[in-house]
Amino acid sequence: NRPEPCTVVIFGATGDLTHRKLIPALYNLAVDGELPTGVNIIGFARREKSDEEFRAGLEELNQKVSRSGHDEEIWGKFISSVTYHQSEFTDLDGYASLSKRLDEIDAGRGGKGNRLFYIASAPEFFDDILLNLKGAGLNEAKEGCWSRVIVEKPFGTDLKTAKHLNQVVNETFHESDTYRIDHYLGKETAQNLMVLRFANAIFEPLWNSKYISHVQITCSENLGMEGGRGGYYEKSGALRDMVQNHLLQLLSLVAMEPPTDLSADGVRDEKVKVIRSLRQWDTPEKVAENVIRAQYTAGHVDGNPVPGYREEDRVSPESETEAYVAVRLLIDTWRWSGVPFYIRMGKRLPKKSTEISIHFKDAPCVLFSALPGGVPGGNVLVIRIQPDEGISLRMVSKIPGTSLRLEPVKMDFHYATSFGKGSPEAYERLILDAIAGDATLFARRDEVEEAWRFIDHIERAWHESDNKPPMAEFVAGSWGPREADEMIKKDGFAWRRL
Ligand code: BG6
Repeated sequence: NRPEPCTVVIFGATGDLTHRKLIPALYNLAVDGELPTGVNIIGFARREKSDEEFRAGLEELNQKVSRSGHDEEIWGKFISSVTYHQSEFTDLDGYASLSKRLDEIDAGRGGKGNRLFYIASAPEFFDDILLNLKGAGLNEAKEGCWSRVIVEKPFGTDLKTAKHLNQVVNETFHESDTYRIDHYLGKETAQNLMVLRFANAIFEPLWNSKYISHVQITCSENLGMEGGRGGYYEKSGALRDMVQNHLLQLLSLVAMEPPTDLSADGVRDEKVKVIRSLRQWDTPEKVAENVIRAQYTAGHVDGNPVPGYREEDRVSPESETEAYVAVRLLIDTWRWSGVPFYIRMGKRLPKKSTEISIHFKDAPCVLFSALPGGVPGGNVLVIRIQPDEGISLRMVSKIPGTSLRLEPVKMDFHYATSFGKGSPEAYERLILDAIAGDATLFARRDEVEEAWRFIDHIERAWHESDNKPPMAEFVAGSWGPREADEMIKKDGFAWRRL
């Protein structure tokens, strides 16, 4: 069931995201035959450029990053549908001329004009772009057609700015035509979470406080502030950059109740309840107890020396921005009462890896209690989001031999071996979903706002209170600060080694 032809307009078309992710995603869809025929792409940006110059820049990067290689013939066909539209984001005339161009393209399709506006510019232009789309009448769909908008992150920098942006978005587009992108929801393993939980009979009966002792969500990155990212990161920090969006989204997929159906609102109704049920860390004391922030000092990653966070390019030597955060969360629902969830995210950790681990309570071990060392560890279900996407289950087994000795073993499922092929990039799935009108994997207004409500308390304690919780330190290339180990140890647990 292929979606209908449409024109995709990308705002911020000369930026990194467009070159690195969006165009390669659209190209990969073309290679796989998934892109609807008759898709036109218009890059909208401020810089002077001809269509040819724009295309050449896209080709150069696509050759490097495309998942499916670079096929000259397919690329040639694909790129012929891509054009460039130069305008300031603040200049309404640029939108009027865009509207004319879109009408011309539609005329070639017998007047049919579906439009997908992808706002991937710097965030300070989000309002202008939305209001000018409205000013030029581009938010209104033509008879029998649709007009949709994808809004990139960051969706606000706190609850107040997110509410404002939501208001501007909703004054411009219907909520059902609004797609707030969170690329973690497009990752294959994130999508598989609901299938794992609700299409199998064996996990869900155990998925509660009776059998689960705690849950860990780890997102470790080995990169630091390469490519001038320090400027953006200084204003954001790990909590806003990754936890407010990607990691709370993963948390809600792990902790949600089964939805009544798979409709976008059916799923999002359940996800938002999880975020709404988070116990709020709304005093500096609670933040100090449940949230650890840290910066890295100079060290080694992958054997190479790297600078400390405060020495990074475009980072202030007195920076108060966290490049690592660990949060202990409690979800006040019947299912999760008393089960701590731990989220940690850091730059310049030993490797790039994202995983969710579900730690089960120990079996009553009366039978084996006499063994030296008892039973080694408990059952852990690990969902590897990336890389090496897959799921493994740790269990205890007898070591073969004449005596009774126990050892943990792993039952392992790898996407690559079971399905014999890699997964599509998150952006491929998400762009295609927006073209098809399916918002299930996009964040709804209330989800974004509830997540900010939780994050805002922590940011306020860090930056505005009289007794600010301290900034911890760790050596780049290590697994984070001692304080984060101590936080989880207080509950009787330890971080999983990745
Ligand atoms: C982005 C953050 O949203 O996600 C980056 O701004 C982060 O700081 C990136 O590195 C991680 O995405 P992925 O898909 O590489 O895990």
